[in-house]
Amino acid sequence: MSKLTINTKYRMPSGHEIPALGYGVYQTPAAIASEVVQHALSVGYRHVDSAVAYRNETPSVEGMNASKIPREDLFFTTKIPPKQLSYEGAKQHIANTFEITGLDYVDLYLIHAPYGGKEARIGAWKALVEGVEAGKIRSIGVSNYGVHHLDELEAWIKSTDEKEGEGKGGVLSVNQVELHPWLARDDIVEWCNKRGVILEAYCPLVRATKSEDPLLLPLAKKYGKTTAQILLRWGLQKGFVILPKSVTKSRIEENAQLYDFELSDEEMKQLHTGVYEPCAWDPTVSQD
Ligand SMILES: NC(=O)c1ccc[n+]([C@@H]2O[C@H](COP(=O)([O-])OP(=O)(O)OC[C@H]3O[C@@H](n4cnc5c(N)ncnc54)[C@H](OP(=O)(O)O)[C@@H]3O)[C@@H](O)[C@H]2O)c1
Repeated sequence: MSKLTINTKYRMPSGHEIPALGYGVYQTPAAIASEVVQHALSVGYRHVDSAVAYRNETPSVEGMNASKIPREDLFFTTKIPPKQLSYEGAKQHIANTFEITGLDYVDLYLIHAPYGGKEARIGAWKALVEGVEAGKIRSIGVSNYGVHHLDELEAWIKSTDEKEGEGKGGVLSVNQVELHPWLARDDIVEWCNKRGVILEAYCPLVRATKSEDPLLLPLAKKYGKTTAQILLRWGLQKGFVILPKSVTKSRIEENAQLYDFELSDEEMKQLHTGVYEPCAWDPTVSQD
């Protein structure tokens, strides 16, 4: 593993780079999103993870603009909402993102969740591929996809490439799923790693439910870190892009201070609990 820094980026299958540290804005009220995004950018984050469903695309991008950091040094993700997934719906959401944010391009656009059946999933994917072809979206991916959803998409991409020409089916760059020591998802991780698909870890802090966990406390003490920082470092050392969320300035800073210690191989193994404990619900197992 090369040395991780706050500037670590990974190359996606699309050819574009993605910063390994992202800043999540789920449940961040629109009224404060610009301010907290600016704070995150001022302390070194360069990547903002939003979604249509979070209703804060516009203020998040306002925060990016207000930071005065050149657009090419920033990375913005948004997602097609899970409800009523379809080709037409996705086209509309993509167009709306540009209208309400004023962005020239989106770095990463994801399908938020696999609900709605195959036709809906593939329809939304086609809309994303067209967004890339139009030069409006740089990289595309999925979220909450289990292995069976990934297999379905891969088969469609392959057959479309064969019928219509290489690249016509689009390039899968990312799968964003809940990932932490209580939900390590070895099957999904293996599928993505084999293909160079980047894994983004959401709920990397297990929504602050493990801050006093006996698995984390000794490591926090040993390294002089918080349990949140141990969790985030675990995600980074797994090779994931991590997306911690906080609206608290001191925690935004804390969650970016991850680069002056390293968990040993033994500790990484200990943290692999083998437990299956999703935060709230688990869309990756959806069978529709
Ligand atoms: N694709 C999807 O379906 C999906 C689903 C969920 C999340 N996500 C993405 O992943 C991001 C993170 O997930 P999440 O927001 O659900 O959960 P999370 O990042 O695991 O946890 C966020 C919670 O932890 C608290 N917190 C943050 N830093 C802390 C620290 N250092 N010490 C103690 N508590 C801390 C936050 O409180 P304060 O904010 O009050 O500081 C908040 O309550 C989201 O914002 C979103 O971008 C995606």
